[in-house]
Amino acid sequence: MANIKPINTARLEVPLTKEVAVTWQAPSNIALVKYWGKTGIQLPVNPSLSMTLSVACTITTVTALPRENEGPAEIDFYFDGKPEADFGNRIETYLNSIASYMPILNQVKLKIETHNTFPHSTGIASSASAFSALALCLCSLEAKLCNVLITEHEFRSKASYLARLGSGSACRSVLPGFALWGFTVSFPGSSDQLAVQTSDIHPDFYTLHDAILIVHDEKKKVSSSEGHNRMIGHPFAKARVKQANENVEKLLVALKSGDKKAFIQIVENEALTLHALMMTSKNGFMLMYPQTIDIINRIQQWRLQTGIDVCFTLDAGPNIHLMFFEKDFEQIQKLIVEELSLKIKQNRVIYDSCGKGPVNLA
Ligand code: PMV
Repeated sequence: MANIKPINTARLEVPLTKEVAVTWQAPSNIALVKYWGKTGIQLPVNPSLSMTLSVACTITTVTALPRENEGPAEIDFYFDGKPEADFGNRIETYLNSIASYMPILNQVKLKIETHNTFPHSTGIASSASAFSALALCLCSLEAKLCNVLITEHEFRSKASYLARLGSGSACRSVLPGFALWGFTVSFPGSSDQLAVQTSDIHPDFYTLHDAILIVHDEKKKVSSSEGHNRMIGHPFAKARVKQANENVEKLLVALKSGDKKAFIQIVENEALTLHALMMTSKNGFMLMYPQTIDIINRIQQWRLQTGIDVCFTLDAGPNIHLMFFEKDFEQIQKLIVEELSLKIKQNRVIYDSCGKGPVNLA
């Protein structure tokens, strides 16, 4: 596999004299084949395949401001219009870690303003959309300030590479539809270092919906970083890597041919495997709640009763992602409103769907 490094390390030739701002809106994504376990510098131990969402997004504006001397990253960070020290510190560390790929980070001061289109504390991982939006802004800023001329493909590749260094799954959010991250023999051009587009998709799959049933919204007792760590020395680690490669291969075939039954089987297998790996790790832990299990059982039973193609997936948390096709929207909405949402606190559901990827707003 080629050792891909972000192309160009353009610098400002003359110091910046006026503010330059860029804005990107980037969506979150839901993994169908899960990334679980990492190695090296934020590299995945197995390939993953995700669907980019459309409603749950982060909108970020990055403004480059003149500064006196070159040095480590200097930032002012605002979340929802207010300074946010904790996340600001994480972003500063991140910017310093990627400065060798983007020298302007040592040459200008940055004002970063960000907000999410989805409510806080819904259990939706905001790091994927946040780092995707930020990486896209940084690449746009570099292109503007240094008159860099690169192709759209090169631009997305660099953004995906940089987003990955912020949060692994974020690298998939720079692409529309279905994105693959991690080298696998079944997809030429796939890479551990950045996500690639999978475009040979049956049109039905672009009509997929993801209704997120918020079972619980409190901070997780074990973070995903800790979860990834627990794969080191996990008794099933080798088998998991093999399974993920096979599931990616099978899912690519299903997505291409329009095989919904195979899609359902793989997606649910991945969700349950992810949680089984947590439970069977050293000092095993469980992120599902009784309601999660209750809803999963009802979804599987309802599918058998109705014959409608619907399935669930889970992130590293208790919330259910209910996946279904546009043509079945009315029946599924009835199921959600009349049954599933009544099983959860505050009946909170976020309706999302397969998305067209990030948008450059300014
Ligand atoms: O990107 P991270 O480090 O937050 O890990 C994400 C892990 C899962 O959401 C469980 C799976 C995935 O592929 O997104």
